[in-house]
Amino acid sequence: MADKAQQTIVVDGLALAQDIRKQLAEEVSQYASQGRRAPCLAVVLVGDDPASASYIKGKQRACSRVGMEAIEKLLPATASEQEVLQVVNDLNHNDAVDGILVQLPLPKAVSAYNVAAAIDPEKDVDALHPTTAGRLLLGEATELAACTPLGIMAILKHHGIEQEGANAVVIGRSNIVGKPVSLMLQRGNATVTMCHSRTRDLQSVCRQADILVAAVGVPRLVQADWIKPGAAVIDVGVSNVDGVLVGDVDTEGAMGIASIVTPHRRGVGPMTITMLLRNTLAAYRARTGA
Ligand SMILES: NC(=O)c1ccc[n+]([C@@H]2O[C@H](COP(=O)([O-])OP(=O)(O)OC[C@H]3O[C@@H](n4cnc5c(N)ncnc54)[C@H](OP(=O)(O)O)[C@@H]3O)[C@@H](O)[C@H]2O)c1
Repeated sequence: MADKAQQTIVVDGLALAQDIRKQLAEEVSQYASQGRRAPCLAVVLVGDDPASASYIKGKQRACSRVGMEAIEKLLPATASEQEVLQVVNDLNHNDAVDGILVQLPLPKAVSAYNVAAAIDPEKDVDALHPTTAGRLLLGEATELAACTPLGIMAILKHHGIEQEGANAVVIGRSNIVGKPVSLMLQRGNATVTMCHSRTRDLQSVCRQADILVAAVGVPRLVQADWIKPGAAVIDVGVSNVDGVLVGDVDTEGAMGIASIVTPHRRGVGPMTITMLLRNTLAAYRARTGA
C-alpha cells in the first residue's frame, strides 16, 4: 500500500515554458532593435510521417512566436543518405542558419548517427553530434545540450529539487533523453542509476529514487507503489492508447506520494521545444558574437 501523506505539486511545464520563451523573445527583439538579423533554425524532415510533420510544425510555430526564423527542408522517404548529408552540408555552409535539427526517426536507409555527425557542432541544437554528446560525457562546458534533459533540469531547478547526494533513477537509456539526463544529474552530484528493459526488479530500484525520471514509452509503467514518498517524479513518456495520450507514470497514483510530478500533457513536452529555442539562440550568439 502506498503511503499518501504528501502535498504533491503538479508541475505546470507550459507556464514555465512560457516564462522562458518570453525572456527569449525579449532578447531576440533587442537584437532586432540593434539591426541584427533574427536567429534561424533549419529543420530537416525526411519522409511523410504525420507525427514528425506535426512536431516540425510545432517547432516552426514556436520559433516564429519568439521572433526567430525557421526554414524547412523536406526530402522524400526515398531519399538516400547521400542526399540527406548534402542538405545538411548546405545548411552547415549557409551563414544565415544558426541551428540545424534533423527530425527523427529517419528512414531505415539513412543512418541517424552519420547524419548527426555531419552537422556542424556549432549548429547542433539537438545535441546529437558526437562532439556535443562527448563534451557532456567528459564533463566539459557545453553551450548546446539535449533539449528534453535541459527541460527536465530546468523543472527540477524551478521547484528547488536538491540533486546533491540525491538518489536519481532514470528509466530509459536513449541518446536523446535517458543517457544525457543521467549525465546531467550526475553533474549535479546525484547518485544515478540507469534502468532499461533488462533491469531486474525495477520497482524496488525506483522505490529508492529521490528523483525518478521515466523516459520509456510504456503507458503507466510507474505505479504509486514504485514511488518513494517525497520523490520528484518526471514523466517523459508519451504513448498513444486508442487515440488518447498516456504517460509512463500513473499520475493520479503519484498524487499524495510524490513531492512534484510532471503531467504527460503540459509537463516536459513544452519545455523540450523551449530548450530547442534556447539552444538556437545560444548558437546564434556564439556564431554572430551578439
Ligand atoms: N515529452 C517530450 O518532450 C519527449 C521527448 C522525447 C521522448 N519522449 C517520449 O519518451 C519516451 C521514451 O523515448 P526515448 O526516445 O527517450 O526512448 P526510446 O528510444 O523509445 O527507448 C525506450 C527506453 O525505454 C526502455 N524500456 C522499454 N521498455 C521498458 C520496460 N518495460 N522497463 C524498463 N525500461 C524499458 C528501453 O530499454 P532498452 O534500451 O533495454 O531497449 C529504452 O532504453 C517515448 O514515449 C517518447 O515518445 C517525450
